[in-house]
Amino acid sequence: MHSNQNTSNGLSFGHGDGRTILVTGATGRQGHEVARKLLAHGWKVRAMTRDPAQPAAKTLASLGAEVVCGDLDNADSVFTAAKGVYGVYSVQNYWMHGFDKEIQQGKTVADAALAAGVEHFVYSSAGGVGRVDGMNITHLDSKAIIERYLANIGLPYTIFRPVTFYENFITPRFLRRIVDKGVLYTPIVGGKDFQMVSLSDVGVFVALAFGNRDEFLYKVMELASDFFHMEEFAKSIGEEINRPVVYRRMSTPLLWMITHFVEWSRTTGHFGIGQPTYNQLRWNNQSATGGWAADIGALRCYNPEITRMKDWVASVDWRGMRDALEK
Ligand SMILES: NC(=O)c1ccc[n+]([C@@H]2O[C@H](COP(=O)([O-])OP(=O)(O)OC[C@H]3O[C@@H](n4cnc5c(N)ncnc54)[C@H](OP(=O)(O)O)[C@@H]3O)[C@@H](O)[C@H]2O)c1
Repeated sequence: MHSNQNTSNGLSFGHGDGRTILVTGATGRQGHEVARKLLAHGWKVRAMTRDPAQPAAKTLASLGAEVVCGDLDNADSVFTAAKGVYGVYSVQNYWMHGFDKEIQQGKTVADAALAAGVEHFVYSSAGGVGRVDGMNITHLDSKAIIERYLANIGLPYTIFRPVTFYENFITPRFLRRIVDKGVLYTPIVGGKDFQMVSLSDVGVFVALAFGNRDEFLYKVMELASDFFHMEEFAKSIGEEINRPVVYRRMSTPLLWMITHFVEWSRTTGHFGIGQPTYNQLRWNNQSATGGWAADIGALRCYNPEITRMKDWVASVDWRGMRDALEK
């Protein structure tokens, strides 16, 4: 099944017409949504994973994707995966691999796409890139380097810079606090606008870009779905789960301690993530606009159906997801 309909009054999704997109990170949060949206709009998807046996890969295979084994640290496997495709969707994960490897992996995908002569390369970067130089926010600095590389080697690219995902707030730690204690506890400052984006909208915009190459070619777009105060976010979640949820802000000294404990204990890898995370959140909080700067009005012209905060909150089975954590 595929659909070629307009987003209501926005752009048409175009039509894949059986052309193939290589989707990296296809088992991950963004890549999976991208793959699903592309399949829904008539594209063939070549979904790359290091482990085709994992459930997310099997789901994509059942939806018609061609699942291929590839490792971004193995250039040959990426060059092989890119052969014969129309387009490439590229995403890397700083948090798994760190600064140097993220850059190396991003360049490998770009080189493979160039060698394959792809017609459209869509890179998932991150909000804030280009506006935080010199602040030691290394997970954004790495993406700035990859962005420059794409442009320099002459790829026909589109760059999306997603801001904070709504879905960050349904990870186990948030779910337990929200559902059990009625507290949305976050370092993000309240009382001013903050932008977030849904993973689904990331998928929609990538599908729109591949379906409307001329419109999106060489565009660099920060991606957000909505903006609101954290207090409003907490209140909406409370209304959805039928219990009051209050917003509580993690203090800056505690944030500093936690991020630096993570760094010191090296719980998530052998590279620096504590200080850059702290630096990013401090930048978000000190900025009058929460740091992110997506032009949501312009994005709504492309797709009027981007996910409003209240609609996203209503789409989540908060209590069901919370209960599932104990199973
Ligand atoms: N959290 C936010 O609010 C936010 C906002 C904007 C941008 N970002 C950026 O988003 C990126 C992460 O994206 P995500 O959340 O979609 O990732 P994710 O859910 O963690 O998934 C990572 C994907 O990368 C694949 N992968 C990892 N190492 C690989 C390797 N060596 N070779 C091939 N594939 C590999 C994994 O595939 P397999 O395991 O199947 O191989 C998986 O599909 C980060 O760079 C982050 O900075 C995050």
